[in-house]
Amino acid sequence: MPTTLTTSEILAALYAPDPEPLLERADTLRLKTKGNGIFLRGLIEVSSICARHCLYCGMRADNAAIRRYRMTPEEIVDAARLAQARHFGTVVIQAGESAANIPAPWMAEIIRTIKRETNQHITLSLSERTIADYTLWREAGADRYLLRFETSDPAMFRRIHPGATPNQHDRLNHLHLLKDLGYQVGSGFMVGLPGQSYQQLAQDLQTLAELRLDMIGLGPYIPHPATPLAQEPNLPEGEQVPADVDTTLRVLALARIMTPEANIPSTTALSTIDPVNGRKRGLQAGCNVFMPNLTPRCYRESYQIYPDKICVKVPEQDDLDHLLADFKAIGRFQQEG
Ligand code: 5AD
Repeated sequence: MPTTLTTSEILAALYAPDPEPLLERADTLRLKTKGNGIFLRGLIEVSSICARHCLYCGMRADNAAIRRYRMTPEEIVDAARLAQARHFGTVVIQAGESAANIPAPWMAEIIRTIKRETNQHITLSLSERTIADYTLWREAGADRYLLRFETSDPAMFRRIHPGATPNQHDRLNHLHLLKDLGYQVGSGFMVGLPGQSYQQLAQDLQTLAELRLDMIGLGPYIPHPATPLAQEPNLPEGEQVPADVDTTLRVLALARIMTPEANIPSTTALSTIDPVNGRKRGLQAGCNVFMPNLTPRCYRESYQIYPDKICVKVPEQDDLDHLLADFKAIGRFQQEG
């Protein structure tokens, strides 16, 4: 059952001089609800083609500096086979937002093939689509759907998603719709977007808890120089939520406390701002999932949501060995599922 925290309880946890008691409470709760196993979800970034203009994202249509690609169905299925060979249990299929580039029947066929040829669960992260598309993919065998609401503040949502993107309420409705179709659903937001206040962050966490999610994705905002948001000022100091490691860990811990049963990854964005200790610190602040990257080397550089993305690259066995050694060092282990 979700634990309701009031706004003032959340603010107290965010402002407390010493974060350790909060992080320890989340870690203890994670042990109780999820155990010491860590689920690996192999991320396949199937296309960098995007029609949207989100102010924060380096893959926005307006950024002419990145190469646009779409993986072939064979490459995508091969990546899922690799996940199977490494005993992951789940692949996450993610792409830039363009329905024309990811036709529903094309994706349905890929889902069917992965289901036929591997034992992997399939999580889709393909943004807002029609009910017909969600239904087709569910019938083809997709198990889960990720759709971050990014911010719970309606005015900010509209501002950072110009053009065709609906408002954040539509995304919340889509999450309910997906649940009704039998998907396990996940959502989340970014920590430290310019203009994000502590009050707003408390609201973001409460929205997360109200959604009764199976999965939660949270990471720090990382400015990309080729985006308008990178040029925007923060709120005055003290009001602006910092996009730093300390704040992200507190937010992850609060997410664990407010949704004890959810699967919560220590995200790539957190590893990117703290390449040495980020993933471990996330895993010790309530997280129980990690998402290695299955995208073939030739495409990886082009999936540039933010710069200098740090990821565990599965095709490179060294990376994976290092990851598993890190798990062991903190008393944890890979759990298939
Ligand atoms: N910094 C951090 N996270 C980002 N995302 C997009 N752009 C950025 C950025 N500049 C996140 C969004 C999106 C997910 C795929 O990546 O939350 O939902």
